[in-house]
Amino acid sequence: MASSSSLYLLVALLALASWQAIAFDPSPLQDFCVADMKSPVRVNGFPCKNPMEVNPDDFFNAAKFDMPRNTMNKVGSNVTNLNVLNFPGLNTLGISLARIDYAPLGVNPPHIHPRATELLTVLEGTLYVGFVTSNPNRLFSKVVHKGDTFVFPKAMIHFQMNLDHNKPAVAQSSLNSQNPGVITIASAVFGSKPPISDDVLTKAFQVEKKVIDWLKSQFWESNY
Ligand SMILES: *[C@@H]1O[C@H](CO)[C@@H](O)[C@H](O)[C@H]1NC(C)=O
Repeated sequence: MASSSSLYLLVALLALASWQAIAFDPSPLQDFCVADMKSPVRVNGFPCKNPMEVNPDDFFNAAKFDMPRNTMNKVGSNVTNLNVLNFPGLNTLGISLARIDYAPLGVNPPHIHPRATELLTVLEGTLYVGFVTSNPNRLFSKVVHKGDTFVFPKAMIHFQMNLDHNKPAVAQSSLNSQNPGVITIASAVFGSKPPISDDVLTKAFQVEKKVIDWLKSQFWESNY
């Protein structure tokens, strides 16, 4: 009796463990599955293009990752994403890439990737980077230089800032999802459509309604 109930417990724990594992992009079940973006079929990811119609260009992208981007926006940064949405060959492979350009003192504002851990390497310049953990909210931050790598664990709020007053900075990030997703904290809270009620935001942020209204009236420009 005791051994059969511990067997049930073991099975339940194993089921829970495999459920946890699929919170990440699932492993591919074939060599490749180039996304067929035109298929009307809705699945987790994208259906595969006919393998006989797949060609080398499906595994290639000329996003010019060597070229500087325009950072003349409110936050002073520009993220170039290379994920399954613009590179269908990444479908089912659990990986994507980003180039991030920073103006002098430019910021990649606090945001979350709900589906990916991010490995950021500084290609040029000096960045102040950091992430905040789940409650209680501990900040892990560091000043990182050209050639350094920093990791932002999956789903943590994180940010980067170029510390140089005169020179631009550049980083490249690898992310372990074909479609990491991004939730920019400020625009999600103050720029959602339709907006979150003032009653919620004034209590949540412990400020007067006029502060919330001012924040809501800002244009929450995207940096990608
Ligand atoms: C990023 O840079 C590209 C190329 O310089 C530009 O076309 C694009 O508008 C910029 N995006 C943002 C959000 O600033």
